[in-house]
Amino acid sequence: MTEERALRIDRRSESTIAEIQNWSAPMPARGEVRLRARWSSLNYKDALAVTGKGRILRRFPLNAGVDVSGVIEQSEDPRFQVGDDVLVTGRGLSETRDGGLATTVTVPADSVVHLPSGLSLRQAMEYGTAGFAAGLAISRLLDNGQAPELGAVAVTGATGGVGSFAIAILSRLGYTVHAISRKFDAEDYLKALGATEVIALDALRVGTRPLETERYGGVVDNVGGDLLSRLIRVTAAEGNVASIGMAGGVELNTTVLPFILRGVTLIGVRSAGCPMPRRRDVWTHLAGDWKPVTMDSIPMREITLDEVPGACDEILAGGHIGRFVVRLAD
Ligand SMILES: NC(=O)c1ccc[n+]([C@@H]2O[C@H](COP(=O)([O-])OP(=O)(O)OC[C@H]3O[C@@H](n4cnc5c(N)ncnc54)[C@H](OP(=O)(O)O)[C@@H]3O)[C@@H](O)[C@H]2O)c1
Repeated sequence: MTEERALRIDRRSESTIAEIQNWSAPMPARGEVRLRARWSSLNYKDALAVTGKGRILRRFPLNAGVDVSGVIEQSEDPRFQVGDDVLVTGRGLSETRDGGLATTVTVPADSVVHLPSGLSLRQAMEYGTAGFAAGLAISRLLDNGQAPELGAVAVTGATGGVGSFAIAILSRLGYTVHAISRKFDAEDYLKALGATEVIALDALRVGTRPLETERYGGVVDNVGGDLLSRLIRVTAAEGNVASIGMAGGVELNTTVLPFILRGVTLIGVRSAGCPMPRRRDVWTHLAGDWKPVTMDSIPMREITLDEVPGACDEILAGGHIGRFVVRLAD
């Protein structure tokens, strides 16, 4: 029988402590389900939470992990039956409630998505919040008229989880994708995913005028800061810029000119709080018509709960490529 455990984060004397503890999730109240977790994954946000380098938890202590997939073992909601395969990403996991890096998890049924056909429980966590955020950004872009004819879509933080999935999905949908990365040795990887051009971050030259020559039909940005400011200046008329991440900074310096003279739209992507109808829709696409043919090219490092803290340090160091999936049960 699997040992009941969780990676629990606490704050003691101004320090963040993340340690494996014995843990069994509470029995579900009305409107909740309890699931036997099989897989989780690590995202940038998890790394910030586990190391204490970012303020992710709104209360302490809580179990870590913004993602989990598993099987319902007890349900107090008629929409879910014992034995259903399900997944949860975001929705307050490891922010306001116990997260998914645990062998059992109790959550409101309103947060839970039935595993769409076409995905295994492991594949759901290979995507995890990173893949879901990429899918959500693309869904928002498409809703706002993004089309291959507008020009290439630039993807920043390209070798990370969100970046890799964004490239792979956009490529599958027929877009020309330009990957922007700090890693000068990642060209083969990014081209295998579907990028037609790979631009080293250091080599990206953009002038300082509020509007520079149009270069990209759209942008999927995981970095923020100066890079996002520069890309907004070169986004083509009617193009969309999806702001997902802040791996490079939270500041944004811009003028209104790209918005009022080119009709550029800046789209905020909030995967954790994404409403359920769009959430289900994006997962259905991820399991089907958006599932990248190049998904197997994205390195998936399978780790155990005990290996999570070390992997979080690696994520924040920024040198890794691809995703970490966490095996929670056999
Ligand atoms: N809004 C949302 O709902 C949502 C959801 C998921 C993630 N996010 C955010 O999106 C970002 C990416 O998440 P992820 O899970 O893909 O993380 P990740 O796997 O760690 O990837 C982040 C990538 O950003 C680049 N990067 C890292 N540090 C950087 C720096 N100092 N300056 C410039 N580039 C840097 C690196 O790519 P290269 O080396 O290739 O440049 C790195 O691989 C994070 O900021 C995360 O918090 C937001």
